[in-house]
Amino acid sequence: MRPRILLYVLPIVLLMACRQEPAGLAVQDVGEGPRDHFSYANSGQFLTRHLELDLTVDFGRRALAGSVTHHMDCLVEEARVITLDSRGLQIERVQLAAAGGAAETLPFELAESDPVRGEALHIRLPSGTDCTPGLQLKIDYRTGPKASAIMWLPPELTAGGEHPFMFTQSQSIHARSWVPLQDTPAVRATYEAVIRTPPELLAVMSADNDAHTERDGIYQFLMPQPIPSYLLALAVGNLQFAAFGEDTGVYAEPEVLPAAAWEFADTQDMLDAAEAMYGPYQWGRYDLLILPPSFPYGGMENPRLSFITPSLLAGDRSLVSVIAHELAHSWSGNLVSNRTWRDIWLNEGTTSYLEARLMEVLYGKDRADEERLLTYQSLLEDLQIVPPEMQPLAPVFESGDPDEGQQGLEYAKGQMLLEHLEALFGRDVFDRYMAGYFDHFAFQAISTEQFLEYIDRRLLQPNPGVYSRQQLEDWLYQPGLPAAMTVPRSDNLEAAAGAAQAWASGELPVDKLSTKGWSPQAMVYFIKALPRDLARERLQELDRELGLSTSENAEIGRTWYIEVAKRRYLPAYPQMRAYLGRFGRTRLVEPVYRALTANGQDAELAREIFDLCKGSYHPLTIAAIEPLLAKIDDE
Ligand code: BES
Ligand code: ZN
Repeated sequence: MRPRILLYVLPIVLLMACRQEPAGLAVQDVGEGPRDHFSYANSGQFLTRHLELDLTVDFGRRALAGSVTHHMDCLVEEARVITLDSRGLQIERVQLAAAGGAAETLPFELAESDPVRGEALHIRLPSGTDCTPGLQLKIDYRTGPKASAIMWLPPELTAGGEHPFMFTQSQSIHARSWVPLQDTPAVRATYEAVIRTPPELLAVMSADNDAHTERDGIYQFLMPQPIPSYLLALAVGNLQFAAFGEDTGVYAEPEVLPAAAWEFADTQDMLDAAEAMYGPYQWGRYDLLILPPSFPYGGMENPRLSFITPSLLAGDRSLVSVIAHELAHSWSGNLVSNRTWRDIWLNEGTTSYLEARLMEVLYGKDRADEERLLTYQSLLEDLQIVPPEMQPLAPVFESGDPDEGQQGLEYAKGQMLLEHLEALFGRDVFDRYMAGYFDHFAFQAISTEQFLEYIDRRLLQPNPGVYSRQQLEDWLYQPGLPAAMTVPRSDNLEAAAGAAQAWASGELPVDKLSTKGWSPQAMVYFIKALPRDLARERLQELDRELGLSTSENAEIGRTWYIEVAKRRYLPAYPQMRAYLGRFGRTRLVEPVYRALTANGQDAELAREIFDLCKGSYHPLTIAAIEPLLAKIDDE
């Protein structure tokens, strides 16, 4: 048995400003530290320490119904209004539990709705409330029909086709659409839950899942480590479990379980590798949950249970860097979290760096370097489209939607920063620094400025003359990339790009391409290196030889169909249509629709395919594609 350090660390008290004055209810502003512009909660006055959920999963009505009890500390004695985040919730009753006595019903009001932030829920405490021992606030509620965090799937959208399925996706600020709470990463709470489902289904959460629990439709959970609200997660379906190792395993529908158990069999080794580099895994078990194809992301790092797209099931373990990524979040993100959504690069950039390190330990430097170069290439593309004011790692980000801030630039730019530092300071020094960072800030949410102070004190100053604070600040606060950086290199990918050029120029016949030993990553790079002006017959020749339109690999498909749409390579349109209906992962489908709408002739077709497919897409995926099509409709 691996020694596990179970930490019941109390979250630090994070003081935040209250920004909303409800009509007729005065709220005192006690703010200090950065504001979260995407939360209404007055967590500088009242702080949730623990949540108790009791929810019934009603597939018929597509609603969760029940209650949440907040165990709160009062930070400001005279404060009398508790403000929580909510979106589209039907609040039925709010009660204050009295020590040993009857619960007292409290007045509440829902403020006007904002399309991104939802509605502030203001709850008024009786004037004589003794707050010193903390308070327990019970809210009876049900979720609305359009809860942005929840996807309800009819049986036909599952692998088995017989049972319904539901899952939540709380990041960034969707937790408020299924639980009224303080929906900011600055607040961490432990939780317990009772989830009631149809008896033949299994519920799993970002908590202490027991794979061998009796299937009776009543499932109990405890999450003893404090987590931010965006990591609260629930899924219900016809799920079974297979173990990888002592501490790791996978949940999936029985129809996909064997494939998932094979594809992700290295998960236990990844966990061991991560612990060796960055210190003990703090969360107990690490399991995966394979979602139906409409899951909108590649993965989501819900603690103890990463949610994973089935589009990774390539049959050759070539796409497992997403698993390395979600696992790495157990350190960067879940253990040390972003303080506000403007600091998200601390999660995603650091995690992308760790992901590459894990890939290197498990599969070698060549493979890791291939992925590093692809990341760098995507960064150069992003820099062409992300407006300059959103290009700093830590931009000013106070309005809009936290899901849409930097369009992914924070992943690659953050990774490149840490890779540059590793190259300058040396791997040993940098690894020790990183392990110390995770230890120092464990179970806290930090701002970019806290990161800056820490790295300055622990890495830059102790090693004078290597890198200045100003150079570091350029990454954090300036657009673009600094002139001096460590650019990834990959011999494999460079050879693939060379082959693309040689074939396109006629130097190399198609049957001499010798792509046999290539990784899918090399194939992706090859496709991207093809010159713009290739004749249709030449594409046909290539497609026939390399089987691009019949590839089962979702990343090759993505790259190929973007080119197919850009170049209007009509022979592959039937396969492109099929591809767009196979998975609803936004990364895979959105850029193909984008290319179709941008090629000058296929806007109508994009709309037609989208109308056929959207019944199987997640609301977040639909929201990402619809604006592309609407732009066309307007013209
Ligand atoms: N935490 C993210 C997913 C996310 C980001 C959800 C922002 C909501 C808002 C997750 O860890 C992630 O980054 N997933 C990537 C995979 C990755 C290997 C880049 C994805 O879904 O593609
Ligand atoms: Zn991530």
